[in-house]
Amino acid sequence: MLVDTYGRVATDLRVSLTDRCNLRCTYCMPEEGMQWLAKPDLLTDDEIVRLIRIAVTDLGVTDVRFTGGEPLLRPGLVGIVERCAALLPRPKLSLTTNGIGLGRTAAALRAAGLDRVNVSLDTLRPDVFHTLTRRNRHQDVLDGLDAARAAGLAPVKVNSVLMRGVNDDEAPELLRWALAEGYELRFIEQMPLDAQHGWQRTDMVTAEEILGALRTRFTLTAEGEPARGHAPAERWLVDGGPARVGVIASVTRPFCRACDRTRLTADGQVRNCLFAREESDLRGALRSGAPDHEVAARWKAAMWGKKAGSGLDDPAFLQPDRPMSAIGG
Ligand code: 5AD
Ligand code: SF4
Repeated sequence: MLVDTYGRVATDLRVSLTDRCNLRCTYCMPEEGMQWLAKPDLLTDDEIVRLIRIAVTDLGVTDVRFTGGEPLLRPGLVGIVERCAALLPRPKLSLTTNGIGLGRTAAALRAAGLDRVNVSLDTLRPDVFHTLTRRNRHQDVLDGLDAARAAGLAPVKVNSVLMRGVNDDEAPELLRWALAEGYELRFIEQMPLDAQHGWQRTDMVTAEEILGALRTRFTLTAEGEPARGHAPAERWLVDGGPARVGVIASVTRPFCRACDRTRLTADGQVRNCLFAREESDLRGALRSGAPDHEVAARWKAAMWGKKAGSGLDDPAFLQPDRPMSAIGG
């Protein structure tokens, strides 16, 4: 198993399939000038499936989430999902996507064995979508969400990041919309993971503020500590339930003590935390012919060194060199 010195066990694997994206969300990327990983450095589909197999069969991983960048940009995605769904014990398979292209692929992904999707959507206003993502693709995301719901990728979750002065007035409207559409909405506090290092603590819209705004229109009842479990989202019942809303307060209420995650970048590096400053190279091991047990041993060693927390609350916090798009959300 993937344990660390604090007794946490990582059973949830996040795999970044590409660092590229067809949007340029301001909290993630600059408008221009991103340096992409070179093709030969990316894991091949076979290498990805092999690492996931080792994680699932030898290291106790039960949940696999595909992320990016934008994972739908990976040509082999459906095949990768299909091969992961054939693993024993079968892991739960999910995808975090910006939704563009889901309209075309949701049914095929479902048929391949994908269980769930999280779609990122921060606004209901096309012009604000353009301000936030620098692309005119709002309708494509809405279509992608429709397709995910129609394909039975349930529950469809929507992730929203609120940015000061841009969409910070939209929390109640986003929730009203999500309830009407049958999507489960979760707000994520903006984290210092943008490539251009522009995050400012004082600018961030906090969970406290988001809850305050929601409470002007809805009654929220806490689901309680046990319900949070390993899930980073604290969840509230809306107007008595059964509908819920989640808030992921990564900055103001970190959940590091309950973290059960391990991460693999598109170029084959294990990260034991989103905010880690070190990585462990598995691609090199694969390409130098290491047997499964040696790859597994390296992965275990990488997780053993996991720090107690993200360090976000420390004034000396240093942002990781890799942006979110190259780590995976
Ligand atoms: N802070 C918080 N959330 C972010 N995401 C991307 N960058 C950041 C950031 N700096 C979100 C995306 C997506 C998920 C992978 O993480 O919107 O929903
Ligand atoms: Fe793309 Fe996601 Fe980054 Fe937006 S947050 S630019 S959708 S990788």
